[in-house]
Amino acid sequence: MLPFKKKKPAFISSIKQRILKDELTKLRVKHDLWYQAFEKQERNKVWLDGKQYLMLSSNDYLGLGFDLRVKEAAKEALDIWGTSPTGSRFANGSRNYHKELEEQIADFLGKESCHVHSAGYLSCVASVSCFVGKGDVALVDRNVHSSLWEGLKLSMATIEKFRHNNPASLEEELSFVGADRKKMLVAEGVYSMEGHVAPLDQFVEIGQRHDCFIVVDDAHGFGVLGDQGRGTADYFGVTDSVDVISGSFSKSLASTGGFVAGDKEVIDYLRTYSKQTIFSAAINPTQAAIASRALEIHLEEPEHLERLWSNTRRYHKFLEGIGLDYWESVTPATPIVAGSKERAYFFSERLKEKGVYANIIIPPGVPPGKELVRTGMSASFSDDDLDRLEAAITYAAKALK
Ligand SMILES: Cc1ncc(COP(=O)(O)O)c(C=O)c1O
Repeated sequence: MLPFKKKKPAFISSIKQRILKDELTKLRVKHDLWYQAFEKQERNKVWLDGKQYLMLSSNDYLGLGFDLRVKEAAKEALDIWGTSPTGSRFANGSRNYHKELEEQIADFLGKESCHVHSAGYLSCVASVSCFVGKGDVALVDRNVHSSLWEGLKLSMATIEKFRHNNPASLEEELSFVGADRKKMLVAEGVYSMEGHVAPLDQFVEIGQRHDCFIVVDDAHGFGVLGDQGRGTADYFGVTDSVDVISGSFSKSLASTGGFVAGDKEVIDYLRTYSKQTIFSAAINPTQAAIASRALEIHLEEPEHLERLWSNTRRYHKFLEGIGLDYWESVTPATPIVAGSKERAYFFSERLKEKGVYANIIIPPGVPPGKELVRTGMSASFSDDDLDRLEAAITYAAKALK
């Protein structure tokens, strides 16, 4: 292919000039830290410039991403439904496979109804944006995911933040909100960066006392916590009291896409008002079939969830043993806190030397001082994989001191 020749533009707008001058983008591109494209993958191994790495940053919690039965389901769905419904669910894009997946997810979660989207991000934006508006108040845990902030900003509701995972702080914030205001309480079930579990039982008690509509993004608790991985609300026995559970298929179910689940009337309302639901094309047949088959396998074969948790216990014990700060994670989402972007980068580069790949996360992804290497446990790791991971982490930790 001929190299692309840029023509010198006659006119450069001031916005384009700002883009061209942006230091952060220049730095990011120069150091090539993110957006790395691997040339090959086999289960939890990826290849970069010919070298094999164990992937330690994935969210393939149940390790079903390369399961032959899941792949087969995707191929079958492609044969039956073609590549894409090429339209929104609202208009021409609804198919029976959507309805079947929605029933399956709702049933799994113990909710009446469900709507699926082509990205977890869309689902999580939708799960907050359409239920509140100007004049309403959203009480939000400081550490929630970008998708929820995005949805809340779109809603125009007043946002009141409370301290991360802190029921007393929630209670305090609520005491400043007038009783006449309509209120929404927003939290994650399992925090994606920290691996913390939200005290949903306490949040539900406080939220109900203050007349809150309760939304939980359970992208990282779905398939992981609770009876058969039914999620964080199930773990605390509060499924009926949480109004909306949103989440993603790109973690435990090894697909892409997401869901919003709740009472029938709540999901009907979402289908009437959510812009993300109305104006975006429906999830395609392969994504849906992967999520559906992966969930079936997960329910038929408890060994994946068991392996995930035994790997997680071993991993946390090991991190504890060598004195690394893993932010008191109690779930497979496990950060290694380095405390500065330079230290996080240094640590991840040492891991790479030993054939382990893990991303670094810096502000605004985490608060300043919490710069970290984001790792995630998976049922796909064998004992040999874990030995290799531990040797690499020990090496990086020694080099960092
Ligand atoms: C807590 C949380 N919510 C929502 C999302 C969005 O999901 P997806 O990446 O599948 O669009 C993510 C994924 O990063 C997440 O961690």
